[in-house]
Amino acid sequence: MADATSVLHVSPVIPVVTIDDPQQAVPVARALADGGIRIIELTLRTDSALTSLKLIANEVPDILVGAGTILTPGQADAAVSAGAQFLVSPGVTPALLDHLLTLDVPVLPGVATVGEVMAVLESGLEAMKFFPAGPAGGPAYLAAIGAPIPHVQFCPTGGISLATAPDYLGLPNVSCVGGSWLAPRAAVETGDWQRITELARQASGLGA
Ligand code: 3PG
Repeated sequence: MADATSVLHVSPVIPVVTIDDPQQAVPVARALADGGIRIIELTLRTDSALTSLKLIANEVPDILVGAGTILTPGQADAAVSAGAQFLVSPGVTPALLDHLLTLDVPVLPGVATVGEVMAVLESGLEAMKFFPAGPAGGPAYLAAIGAPIPHVQFCPTGGISLATAPDYLGLPNVSCVGGSWLAPRAAVETGDWQRITELARQASGLGA
């Protein structure tokens, strides 16, 4: 088991990227890197996700690429085999958490309640994804969790934008946020890499 605290400090924003055509994978990753972002959460929501993951892991060494949308132990294993350097889940079940703990890559289990935070903490992990951040209560909710449980670091994701990211990043228990806004589906589909680089540049500026 590897704690994911270091993963939370790579960039102020982890782009949540969904790729349909594997030919888009490397250009998207390079466009994000050109904008100063050094990490990607690639969702396992498309048939070609594992192929895209492998391509980024092999061809874009300055990007740390992880797999998101991990729902089952089997998906976790497949993602690690494809080269995932960390794993992210939207939530956890006891079976999934047990399995994630057996892996050598850092994992960011998803949580949305205080009880879930405590369950993951019991397993020894202190870095978690807070999902879905906006609907679950936003910055005020995370600030409240930080009072009784100050040692857990979160990557809030879900409903966050460039405009609202600073509200989260200003919290002591938030090291980065996640969001799909850096790689909009339309920009990926039309190959608008410049737009993605510009969005990445704005997002990486949030850490300044
Ligand atoms: C995720 O998978 O983490 C979310 O779908 C990303 O949320 P967003 O699209 O609201 O940024």
